[in-house]
Amino acid sequence: MRLRNKPWAKPLIAANPQWVITSPNEYRGKWQDRFPRKQPLYIEIGMGKGRFIIEMAQKHPEFNFIGIEMQTVATGIVLKKQLEVQLPNLQLICANGANLSEYFANSEVAGIYLNFSDPWPKKRQAKRRLTYKSFLSQYQQVLQVKGHLEFKTDNRGLFEYSLVSLNEYGMKFDKVWLDLHASPDIEQNTMTEYEEKFSAKGQPIYKIEAHF
Ligand SMILES: C[S@@+](CC[C@H](N)C(=O)[O-])C[C@H]1O[C@@H](n2cnc3c(N)ncnc32)[C@H](O)[C@@H]1O
Repeated sequence: MRLRNKPWAKPLIAANPQWVITSPNEYRGKWQDRFPRKQPLYIEIGMGKGRFIIEMAQKHPEFNFIGIEMQTVATGIVLKKQLEVQLPNLQLICANGANLSEYFANSEVAGIYLNFSDPWPKKRQAKRRLTYKSFLSQYQQVLQVKGHLEFKTDNRGLFEYSLVSLNEYGMKFDKVWLDLHASPDIEQNTMTEYEEKFSAKGQPIYKIEAHF
């Protein structure tokens, strides 16, 4: 997803450092200080326009959430929403998730969400996929021992690749869905923007829940 440049996004982010962090390395090991309550921390990498992370923070005041997004415009769109709802348990990071272990200390994170990650279908682009082994090793570092990874996609190729990549890395699968929206578990599901679009077209949504 590439969004057209919006000149307001960068200044809006710069004016709201209480909600958005652009140099996350500075908070490594200290993320709980950014929230009024110390409670388990869940992160989403590639939050896009933020529907999922905002709804999760609203549904779960007992957890802290951080949405990570490398596009300034998308982060600015989520920030606008956060300025309206002012959720105390939600912080945003505008940075590349490829450097996750520089942003979070070992075991600082209780769970990681990857939703409709860019598929990068060409073989030479595999290293950019958020389920590539270099990402998995960073997830393993920052996650607590019982921490888990949740991954949803409409893209069959990325789903098949991710099953193999997680398996080769030695991850354990807790649950796999080949059509999440046809499952009774849909009751507990929190939708993303992409999920709404693709499920409305009748495309199956694949999901994996796994841990190290
Ligand atoms: C296809 S969109 C999906 C957005 C949203 N998760 C959804 O389901 O509607 C993927 C998003 O991930 C972001 N992204 C991709 N790679 C990333 C990375 N390494 N770090 C941070 N964000 C990333 C992209 O900029 C884009 O906004």
